[in-house]
Amino acid sequence: MVGCDLRMGKELIILGLESSCDDTAAAILRQPDGGPAEILASVVHGQNDLHAAFGGVVPEIAARAHAEKLDICVEEALAASGVALRDLDAIAVTAGPGLIGGVMSGVMCAKGLAAGLNIPLVGVNHLAGHALTPRLTDQVAFPYLMLLVSGGHCQFLIARGPDDFTRLGGTIDDAPGEAFDKTARLLGLPQPGGPSVEQAAKDGDSARFAFPRPLLDRPGCDLSFSGLKTALLRARDALVTDQGGLTEQDRNDLCASFQAAVADVLAKKTARTIAAYLEDAPAEPLLAVAGGVAANQTIRAALETVCAQMGVGFTAPPLALCTDNAAMIAFAGLERFRGGHRDDMRLAARPRWPLDKTAPALLGGGKKGAKA
Ligand code: KG4
Ligand code: ZN
Repeated sequence: MVGCDLRMGKELIILGLESSCDDTAAAILRQPDGGPAEILASVVHGQNDLHAAFGGVVPEIAARAHAEKLDICVEEALAASGVALRDLDAIAVTAGPGLIGGVMSGVMCAKGLAAGLNIPLVGVNHLAGHALTPRLTDQVAFPYLMLLVSGGHCQFLIARGPDDFTRLGGTIDDAPGEAFDKTARLLGLPQPGGPSVEQAAKDGDSARFAFPRPLLDRPGCDLSFSGLKTALLRARDALVTDQGGLTEQDRNDLCASFQAAVADVLAKKTARTIAAYLEDAPAEPLLAVAGGVAANQTIRAALETVCAQMGVGFTAPPLALCTDNAAMIAFAGLERFRGGHRDDMRLAARPRWPLDKTAPALLGGGKKGAKA
């Protein structure tokens, strides 16, 4: 590790590895000191096919696939970027939170590379990777408000620094993407559920079913989505009992009503969270969203409307950087590295790793394992 501190003021090239859930990924970023980081390569190998028959991610299958795919991802990222291993200044790796077998695969791969190349290792919190992405894509300044909405995450965070996050709220049960996926399963629509429910909702009547808006009646910024899924199940079963099955219009109306409820809950909780964030009097208030659910046009429009009404900017990274990827891990690693953070061979894989160490643990885990 000789010479680490000499690297502080120069251009850096970093390799990032991600393997905390069901995507194996490697990315290479270059950043001149003080300048924006450039993504030289970002490779993602998904595992949807391996888990499709099980209705969810199977941790042991995921870990084995990560162990097999990590080397391939690294080789592809090196080839695509034209960077040689000897050009790397550091290795960043997701060290948690996530499915422990997968996280361990990534950490061991990163340790092997760092030891072999004699360069520093930087452990990264997967959620910090998501939360710092607006700084990679738009050079957004701290502090900004972050909403993570995916199949495994749902949290409101104030990002104040690369290692400084305040959690204002989060789901106490399912993540919104998980609710979309379950809804699709209940209605016989293809996975992943988000896009198929959104598509069906386009031709549906969002006012036909009055689905609940969980937790809106209670103070605070926490969210809940599991009751919504149960309400949908009851509405479906009532139709099946009455009519002997579902028409296409029934399906579309169920999807539209479900989506409207999710959008409404997210928008109202976002408004509350923005009010709390504005108490800090940020110079350029901004809400950034990330995660697969941020791709939903109805939800996105609802969030943009809230921001416009409250005088807050809105940004969402491009979808490929919203969903799990290693560019965000490499970038979060760069931010930590520039701040002087170094790990060594004692770096541990952590199934749980809350971004805000002072906030109480959230009750919900999400289908993709405990996240925080
Ligand atoms: O961020 P992501 O790729 O992976 C993690 O969960 O970490 O998010 C995937 C989730 C899935 O649950 C998927 O159904 C949901 O995002 N999703 C959507 C849409 N596209 C993807 N949900 C609602 N509307 C969409 N258009
Ligand atoms: Zn993620």
